Amino acid sequence: MTGETAMFEAALKPQLQDLAIFGRAPAFAEALHVGRPNVGSRERLLERINDMLDRNWLTNDGPFVREFEKRIAQFVGVRHCIAMCNATVSLEIAIRALGLTGEVIVPSFTFIATAHALQWQEITPVFCDIDSKTHTLDPAQVEKMITPRTTGIIGVHTWGRACDIDGLEEIAHRRNVQLLFDAAHAFGCSYRDRLIGGFGSCEVLSFHATKFFNSFEGGAVLTNDDSLAEKIRLMRNFGFHGYDRVIYIGTNGKMTEVCAAMGLTSLESIETFVEINRRNYDDYRRGLADVPGVNLLAYDEREQSNYQYIVCEVDEAAAGLTRDELVQVLTAENVLARRYFFPGCHQMEPYRSYFPHAHLVLPETEKLCRRVMLLPTGTAINRDTVSQVCRIIGIAVAQAAGVKAQLAKTH
Ligand SMILES: Cc1ncc(COP(=O)(O)O)c(C=O)c1O
Repeated sequence: MTGETAMFEAALKPQLQDLAIFGRAPAFAEALHVGRPNVGSRERLLERINDMLDRNWLTNDGPFVREFEKRIAQFVGVRHCIAMCNATVSLEIAIRALGLTGEVIVPSFTFIATAHALQWQEITPVFCDIDSKTHTLDPAQVEKMITPRTTGIIGVHTWGRACDIDGLEEIAHRRNVQLLFDAAHAFGCSYRDRLIGGFGSCEVLSFHATKFFNSFEGGAVLTNDDSLAEKIRLMRNFGFHGYDRVIYIGTNGKMTEVCAAMGLTSLESIETFVEINRRNYDDYRRGLADVPGVNLLAYDEREQSNYQYIVCEVDEAAAGLTRDELVQVLTAENVLARRYFFPGCHQMEPYRSYFPHAHLVLPETEKLCRRVMLLPTGTAINRDTVSQVCRIIGIAVAQAAGVKAQLAKTH
């Protein structure tokens, strides 16, 4: 090799010292977050806020909330959308309105709100394992967890990828238990060509600021069941049926007008948000294609997706680094990669103390919790950013031994 070629090759070779864990300045001056809010037209939002102030109608089933509910129901193709202050309260109300008691089967690999919505009402969340490929409830495991106390199953459409709805419906029907879905991630996603929202007894969406589509805070229950919708609507407003009559235990789950104004504004930009997420996903796919052991989770091209999560599974044997080591490398660069849903609901309190042996029946959940890493996407992320993030991951994996040694020194 001539001296010139050697220099040329060295210049091309990713340099370990390029990484911030070696003391170099972080690649990004400002932190890159997973779930930075997408904001649509500021003008339209402010116009709506002005209208709201002119009307002096700030909450209590106002015109924006009604319009928002109508638009969401039309968009998804369901009979009813009941908008709420957030998805957690939506889940709590749905669970109560369906009359669930005793035990309800849920994945442990989910956001803690799915489990808390049950435990808050003294219903036992029975944690069930997931399928390692789909990251959603494994129907074969669900079947094994059913006992005489089981009244329901809550499937979670994790990352917007639908669970095995057919499989779960079959079990729910045969074993005579209710089926509902935590669809917090799945607005705009489909299952067998039908948009999520109309499956099971009801489905719950989240419009939290970190979701690709937000109403600041917000959620909704979607259902095709008229009487369930009516009950949920009343429970959302303390159980009031008319001015002075209360017929259920209810709570305050109302969405405010300003949140609905934001939701309506987000709805006008939903295609752009999905397009940008899709572009980022494609760029990550290309950028990580040759990085061994960092496997980007694919979205099913036959279905509609919102592409809001860039989910990687880190295989330590192939990458030479653990997921946590890679997260450390990225954090040093100001790329705030996240470990969802680490360490799993069953490892969080009070569930860890209530069910100390749960991990024995959750082997896939335990494995996945150690492998999953989410990367930043959304409208705050441009193509150049994605390519730099991929480059950092590529360097770290290519020089895994050096990275490991450096991390061991500094931690
Ligand atoms: C799967 C899942 N369920 C429920 C929730 C709760 O949603 P919210 O923040 O709207 O209450 C979230 C929020 O991130 C979630 O990811």
